[in-house]
Amino acid sequence: MELAVEVAGVKLANPVILASGTAGYGIELSSLVDLSRVGALVLKSVTLEPRKGNPEPRVWETAAGMLNSIGLENVGVQALIADIIPALEGLGTPVFASIAGDTVRSYARLAARIQGAGGVDALEVNVSCPNVEKGGIQFGVDPGATSAIVMSVKENCDLPVFVKLTAAVADISRIAVAAQKAGADGLTLINTIPGLAIDPATRTPRLGGVIGGLSGPAIKPVALKAIWECYEATGLPIIGGGGICDTGDVLEFLIAGASAVSVGTALFRDPGRVLDIIDELPGAIERAGARSAGELTGTLTETSR
Ligand SMILES: Cc1cc2nc3c(=O)[nH]c(=O)nc-3n(C[C@H](O)[C@H](O)[C@H](O)COP(=O)(O)O)c2cc1C
Repeated sequence: MELAVEVAGVKLANPVILASGTAGYGIELSSLVDLSRVGALVLKSVTLEPRKGNPEPRVWETAAGMLNSIGLENVGVQALIADIIPALEGLGTPVFASIAGDTVRSYARLAARIQGAGGVDALEVNVSCPNVEKGGIQFGVDPGATSAIVMSVKENCDLPVFVKLTAAVADISRIAVAAQKAGADGLTLINTIPGLAIDPATRTPRLGGVIGGLSGPAIKPVALKAIWECYEATGLPIIGGGGICDTGDVLEFLIAGASAVSVGTALFRDPGRVLDIIDELPGAIERAGARSAGELTGTLTETSR
Protein backbone atom coordinates (compact mmCIF):
# COMPACT_ATOMS: atom_id res chain seq x y z
CA MET A 1 0.00 0.00 0.00
CA GLU A 2 1.46 3.33 -1.09
CA LEU A 3 0.78 6.03 1.49
CA ALA A 4 3.40 8.48 0.23
CA VAL A 5 2.08 11.51 -1.66
CA GLU A 6 3.65 14.56 -3.25
CA VAL A 7 1.89 17.91 -2.91
CA ALA A 8 3.27 20.79 -4.99
CA GLY A 9 6.68 19.17 -4.96
CA VAL A 10 6.71 18.44 -1.20
CA LYS A 11 7.15 14.72 -0.55
CA LEU A 12 5.11 13.37 2.37
CA ALA A 13 5.57 9.83 3.74
CA ASN A 14 1.81 9.73 4.32
CA PRO A 15 -1.01 12.19 3.57
CA VAL A 16 -1.96 13.00 7.19
CA ILE A 17 -0.65 16.32 8.49
CA LEU A 18 -1.17 18.44 11.58
CA ALA A 19 -3.33 21.55 11.01
CA SER A 20 -1.96 25.02 11.73
CA GLY A 21 -2.55 26.30 15.25
CA THR A 22 -3.71 22.99 16.66
CA ALA A 23 -0.24 21.57 17.24
CA GLY A 24 1.41 24.85 18.36
CA TYR A 25 4.95 24.92 17.04
CA GLY A 26 5.29 21.15 17.22
CA ILE A 27 7.53 21.21 20.27
CA GLU A 28 4.49 21.43 22.59
CA LEU A 29 3.07 18.21 21.14
CA SER A 30 6.31 16.25 20.78
CA SER A 31 5.98 14.50 24.17
CA LEU A 32 2.51 13.22 23.21
CA VAL A 33 2.89 12.46 19.48
CA ASP A 34 5.88 11.04 17.62
CA LEU A 35 6.10 13.90 15.12
CA SER A 36 8.43 11.95 12.85
CA ARG A 37 5.45 9.75 11.91
CA VAL A 38 3.07 12.44 10.65
CA GLY A 39 3.04 13.41 6.98
CA ALA A 40 3.92 17.02 7.74
CA LEU A 41 3.63 19.60 10.45
CA VAL A 42 2.02 23.00 9.77
CA LEU A 43 3.16 25.52 12.37
CA LYS A 44 0.94 28.08 14.10
CA SER A 45 0.53 31.22 11.95
CA VAL A 46 3.07 33.91 12.73
CA THR A 47 2.88 37.68 12.24
CA LEU A 48 5.74 40.20 11.86
CA GLU A 49 5.53 41.12 15.55
CA PRO A 50 4.55 38.82 18.45
CA ARG A 51 0.85 38.99 19.38
CA LYS A 52 -0.82 38.49 22.76
CA GLY A 53 -4.15 37.36 21.26
CA ASN A 54 -7.69 37.78 22.54
CA PRO A 55 -9.02 37.93 26.12
CA GLU A 56 -10.08 34.69 27.88
CA PRO A 57 -12.10 32.53 27.59
CA ARG A 58 -10.74 31.47 24.24
CA VAL A 59 -12.38 28.13 23.58
CA TRP A 60 -15.92 26.84 23.92
CA GLU A 61 -17.07 23.32 23.11
CA THR A 62 -20.11 23.18 20.82
CA ALA A 63 -22.47 20.31 19.96
CA ALA A 64 -20.19 18.88 17.29
CA GLY A 65 -17.07 20.95 17.44
CA MET A 66 -15.23 23.77 19.05
CA LEU A 67 -15.36 27.54 18.86
CA ASN A 68 -12.03 29.31 19.39
CA SER A 69 -10.99 32.91 19.57
CA ILE A 70 -7.24 32.73 20.08
CA GLY A 71 -6.79 35.99 18.15
CA LEU A 72 -3.59 34.85 16.45
CA GLU A 73 -1.51 34.81 19.62
CA ASN A 74 1.98 33.97 18.36
CA VAL A 75 5.68 34.41 19.04
CA GLY A 76 6.36 36.51 15.90
CA VAL A 77 8.53 35.70 12.92
CA GLN A 78 11.83 36.52 14.63
CA ALA A 79 11.34 33.88 17.37
CA LEU A 80 10.06 31.42 14.77
CA ILE A 81 13.29 31.74 12.84
CA ALA A 82 15.65 31.96 15.82
CA ASP A 83 14.17 29.33 18.16
CA ILE A 84 11.45 27.19 16.62
CA ILE A 85 12.63 26.21 13.17
CA PRO A 86 16.13 25.22 14.41
CA ALA A 87 14.53 23.07 17.15
CA LEU A 88 12.57 21.14 14.51
CA GLU A 89 15.67 20.44 12.43
CA GLY A 90 16.37 16.72 12.14
CA LEU A 91 12.73 15.79 12.70
CA GLY A 92 12.60 14.14 9.29
CA THR A 93 9.07 15.45 8.77
CA PRO A 94 8.35 18.27 6.31
CA VAL A 95 7.60 21.54 8.08
CA PHE A 96 5.21 24.16 6.68
CA ALA A 97 5.44 27.67 8.13
CA SER A 98 2.19 29.63 8.21
CA ILE A 99 2.07 33.41 7.83
CA ALA A 100 -0.62 35.97 8.67
CA GLY A 101 -0.53 39.70 7.98
CA ASP A 102 -2.64 42.82 8.06
CA THR A 103 -1.31 44.39 4.83
CA VAL A 104 -0.12 42.94 1.52
CA ARG A 105 3.36 44.22 2.35
CA SER A 106 3.43 42.42 5.68
CA TYR A 107 2.80 39.08 3.93
CA ALA A 108 5.63 39.86 1.48
CA ARG A 109 8.02 40.69 4.33
CA LEU A 110 7.09 37.52 6.24
CA ALA A 111 7.68 35.38 3.15
CA ALA A 112 11.06 36.99 2.53
CA ARG A 113 12.17 36.54 6.17
CA ILE A 114 11.22 32.85 6.24
CA GLN A 115 12.70 32.15 2.83
CA GLY A 116 15.96 33.83 3.90
CA ALA A 117 16.22 31.81 7.12
CA GLY A 118 15.66 28.41 5.49
CA GLY A 119 14.65 25.23 7.33
CA VAL A 120 11.06 25.00 6.11
CA ASP A 121 9.69 22.99 3.20
CA ALA A 122 6.65 25.07 2.26
CA LEU A 123 4.71 28.16 3.16
CA GLU A 124 1.04 28.28 4.08
CA VAL A 125 -0.53 31.70 3.62
CA ASN A 126 -3.40 32.30 6.01
CA VAL A 127 -5.64 34.83 4.27
CA SER A 128 -8.39 34.70 6.93
CA CYS A 129 -7.04 37.90 8.47
CA PRO A 130 -8.44 41.45 8.57
CA ASN A 131 -7.03 43.74 5.86
CA VAL A 132 -6.35 47.00 7.73
CA GLU A 133 -6.00 48.94 4.46
CA LYS A 134 -9.55 47.93 3.47
CA GLY A 135 -11.39 48.65 6.72
CA GLY A 136 -10.71 45.27 8.32
CA ILE A 137 -12.53 43.08 5.75
CA GLN A 138 -10.83 39.67 5.52
CA PHE A 139 -8.35 39.29 2.64
CA GLY A 140 -9.73 35.85 1.86
CA VAL A 141 -13.24 37.04 0.98
CA ASP A 142 -11.93 39.26 -1.81
CA PRO A 143 -10.40 37.70 -4.97
CA GLY A 144 -8.37 40.87 -5.67
CA ALA A 145 -6.86 41.05 -2.19
CA THR A 146 -6.13 37.30 -2.19
CA SER A 147 -4.43 37.64 -5.56
CA ALA A 148 -2.33 40.62 -4.37
CA ILE A 149 -1.08 38.67 -1.36
CA VAL A 150 -0.21 35.58 -3.36
CA MET A 151 1.67 37.58 -5.99
CA SER A 152 3.68 39.45 -3.39
CA VAL A 153 4.50 36.25 -1.51
CA LYS A 154 5.55 34.48 -4.71
CA GLU A 155 7.80 37.41 -5.65
CA ASN A 156 9.53 37.11 -2.31
CA CYS A 157 10.06 33.39 -1.93
CA ASP A 158 10.77 30.25 -3.92
CA LEU A 159 9.06 27.86 -1.48
CA PRO A 160 5.89 26.04 -2.56
CA VAL A 161 3.02 28.34 -1.52
CA PHE A 162 -0.27 26.95 -0.20
CA VAL A 163 -3.08 29.47 0.20
CA LYS A 164 -5.37 28.68 3.11
CA LEU A 165 -8.89 29.81 2.31
CA THR A 166 -11.99 30.50 4.33
CA ALA A 167 -15.22 28.82 3.29
CA ALA A 168 -17.25 31.72 4.70
CA VAL A 169 -17.72 33.22 1.22
CA ALA A 170 -20.46 33.02 -1.41
CA ASP A 171 -18.29 31.25 -4.01
CA ILE A 172 -15.00 29.81 -2.80
CA SER A 173 -13.98 28.63 -6.28
CA ARG A 174 -13.67 32.29 -7.41
CA ILE A 175 -11.15 32.95 -4.65
CA ALA A 176 -9.33 29.70 -5.45
CA VAL A 177 -9.05 30.62 -9.14
CA ALA A 178 -7.75 34.09 -8.19
CA ALA A 179 -5.10 32.45 -5.98
CA GLN A 180 -4.17 30.05 -8.78
CA LYS A 181 -3.81 32.85 -11.37
CA ALA A 182 -1.58 34.73 -8.92
CA GLY A 183 0.75 31.72 -8.74
CA ALA A 184 -0.42 29.59 -5.78
CA ASP A 185 1.13 26.11 -5.88
CA GLY A 186 -1.60 24.57 -3.73
CA LEU A 187 -4.61 25.27 -1.52
CA THR A 188 -5.33 24.46 2.10
CA LEU A 189 -9.04 24.13 2.83
CA ILE A 190 -10.71 25.10 5.10
CA ASN A 191 -10.07 27.50 7.92
CA THR A 192 -12.55 27.76 10.80
CA ILE A 193 -16.01 29.26 10.15
CA PRO A 194 -17.05 32.35 12.17
CA GLY A 195 -19.59 31.63 14.93
CA LEU A 196 -21.03 32.88 18.21
CA ALA A 197 -21.92 31.08 21.45
CA ILE A 198 -24.05 32.78 24.12
CA ASP A 199 -24.56 32.21 27.84
CA PRO A 200 -28.32 32.73 28.21
CA ALA A 201 -28.05 33.23 31.98
CA THR A 202 -25.84 36.30 31.64
CA ARG A 203 -26.73 37.17 28.02
CA THR A 204 -23.01 37.48 27.32
CA PRO A 205 -20.82 35.77 24.71
CA ARG A 206 -19.06 32.60 25.81
CA LEU A 207 -15.78 33.84 24.32
CA GLY A 208 -13.73 36.87 25.36
CA GLY A 209 -13.25 37.75 21.69
CA VAL A 210 -17.08 37.48 21.18
CA ILE A 211 -16.88 35.88 17.68
CA GLY A 212 -14.94 32.64 17.37
CA GLY A 213 -13.95 30.17 14.65
CA LEU A 214 -15.91 26.92 14.48
CA SER A 215 -13.96 23.73 13.83
CA GLY A 216 -14.45 19.98 14.27
CA PRO A 217 -17.06 17.54 12.86
CA ALA A 218 -19.68 20.34 12.58
CA ILE A 219 -17.81 21.86 9.62
CA LYS A 220 -16.92 18.65 7.76
CA PRO A 221 -19.66 18.85 5.09
CA VAL A 222 -18.78 22.51 4.45
CA ALA A 223 -15.12 21.55 4.01
CA LEU A 224 -15.91 18.69 1.63
CA LYS A 225 -18.01 20.97 -0.56
CA ALA A 226 -15.27 23.61 -0.63
CA ILE A 227 -12.63 21.04 -1.58
CA TRP A 228 -14.73 19.49 -4.31
CA GLU A 229 -15.56 22.91 -5.82
CA CYS A 230 -11.95 24.15 -5.69
CA TYR A 231 -10.58 20.87 -7.08
CA GLU A 232 -13.00 21.06 -10.01
CA ALA A 233 -12.23 24.74 -10.61
CA THR A 234 -8.42 24.67 -10.32
CA GLY A 235 -7.02 21.12 -10.23
CA LEU A 236 -4.44 22.45 -7.74
CA PRO A 237 -3.08 20.12 -5.05
CA ILE A 238 -5.26 20.52 -1.95
CA ILE A 239 -4.58 19.90 1.73
CA GLY A 240 -8.10 19.22 2.99
CA GLY A 241 -9.36 19.37 6.54
CA GLY A 242 -12.24 20.29 8.77
CA GLY A 243 -13.53 17.83 11.35
CA ILE A 244 -11.40 14.84 10.40
CA CYS A 245 -11.57 12.26 13.21
CA ASP A 246 -11.08 8.86 11.54
CA THR A 247 -10.03 7.08 8.36
CA GLY A 248 -13.57 7.20 6.95
CA ASP A 249 -13.30 11.00 7.07
CA VAL A 250 -9.88 10.86 5.37
CA LEU A 251 -11.30 8.82 2.47
CA GLU A 252 -14.10 11.35 1.98
CA PHE A 253 -11.61 14.23 1.80
CA LEU A 254 -9.40 12.41 -0.70
CA ILE A 255 -12.38 11.51 -2.87
CA ALA A 256 -13.57 15.16 -2.79
CA GLY A 257 -10.22 16.21 -4.26
CA ALA A 258 -7.64 16.48 -1.48
CA SER A 259 -4.13 15.12 -2.02
CA ALA A 260 -3.33 15.33 1.70
CA VAL A 261 -5.48 15.88 4.79
CA SER A 262 -5.10 17.76 8.05
CA VAL A 263 -6.13 16.81 11.56
CA GLY A 264 -6.76 19.65 14.00
CA THR A 265 -9.56 19.74 16.55
CA ALA A 266 -9.49 15.93 16.98
CA LEU A 267 -6.06 16.36 18.62
CA PHE A 268 -7.63 18.26 21.54
CA ARG A 269 -9.60 15.18 22.57
CA ASP A 270 -6.81 12.69 21.86
CA PRO A 271 -3.44 13.78 20.45
CA GLY A 272 -2.61 10.13 19.62
CA ARG A 273 -5.62 9.94 17.28
CA VAL A 274 -3.54 11.21 14.36
CA LEU A 275 -1.15 8.23 14.62
CA ASP A 276 -4.09 5.79 14.87
CA ILE A 277 -5.46 7.29 11.64
CA ILE A 278 -2.08 6.80 9.92
CA ASP A 279 -1.86 3.18 11.16
CA GLU A 280 -5.41 2.39 10.04
CA LEU A 281 -5.21 4.16 6.68
CA PRO A 282 -3.69 1.34 4.55
CA GLY A 283 -6.56 -1.02 5.52
CA ALA A 284 -9.16 1.67 4.85
CA ILE A 285 -7.72 2.49 1.42
CA GLU A 286 -7.62 -1.19 0.53
CA ARG A 287 -11.25 -1.67 1.59
CA ALA A 288 -12.12 1.30 -0.67
CA GLY A 289 -10.67 -0.69 -3.58
CA ALA A 290 -7.57 1.45 -4.14
CA ARG A 291 -3.85 0.66 -4.06
CA SER A 292 -2.64 4.07 -2.94
CA ALA A 293 -3.84 7.22 -1.24
CA GLY A 294 -3.24 9.22 -4.41
CA GLU A 295 -5.48 6.95 -6.47
CA LEU A 296 -8.52 8.17 -4.53
CA THR A 297 -7.94 11.89 -5.03
CA GLY A 298 -10.74 13.59 -6.95
CA THR A 299 -12.71 10.43 -7.67
CA LEU A 300 -16.17 11.60 -6.63
CA THR A 301 -18.71 10.01 -8.95
CA GLU A 302 -21.85 12.01 -9.51
CA THR A 303 -24.75 9.65 -10.04
CA SER A 304 -27.23 12.50 -10.35
CA ARG A 305 -27.27 16.23 -9.89
C1 LIG B 1 -7.28 26.43 18.54
C2 LIG B 1 -7.13 26.60 17.06
C3 LIG B 1 -6.16 27.46 16.56
C4 LIG B 1 -5.99 27.63 15.17
N1 LIG B 1 -5.01 28.47 14.70
C5 LIG B 1 -4.83 28.60 13.36
C6 LIG B 1 -3.79 29.41 12.84
O1 LIG B 1 -2.98 30.00 13.56
N2 LIG B 1 -3.67 29.51 11.48
C7 LIG B 1 -4.50 28.85 10.61
O2 LIG B 1 -4.34 28.97 9.38
N3 LIG B 1 -5.50 28.06 11.08
C8 LIG B 1 -5.67 27.92 12.42
N4 LIG B 1 -6.68 27.10 12.90
C9 LIG B 1 -7.56 26.39 11.94
C10 LIG B 1 -7.11 24.94 11.73
O3 LIG B 1 -5.81 24.88 11.18
C11 LIG B 1 -8.09 24.19 10.81
O4 LIG B 1 -8.08 24.81 9.54
C12 LIG B 1 -9.53 24.17 11.34
O5 LIG B 1 -9.53 24.03 12.74
C13 LIG B 1 -10.38 23.09 10.71
O6 LIG B 1 -9.86 21.80 10.94
P1 LIG B 1 -10.30 20.85 12.20
O7 LIG B 1 -11.79 20.82 12.22
O8 LIG B 1 -9.65 19.53 11.92
O9 LIG B 1 -9.73 21.50 13.42
C14 LIG B 1 -6.86 26.93 14.28
C15 LIG B 1 -7.83 26.05 14.79
C16 LIG B 1 -7.98 25.88 16.15
C17 LIG B 1 -9.03 24.93 16.65
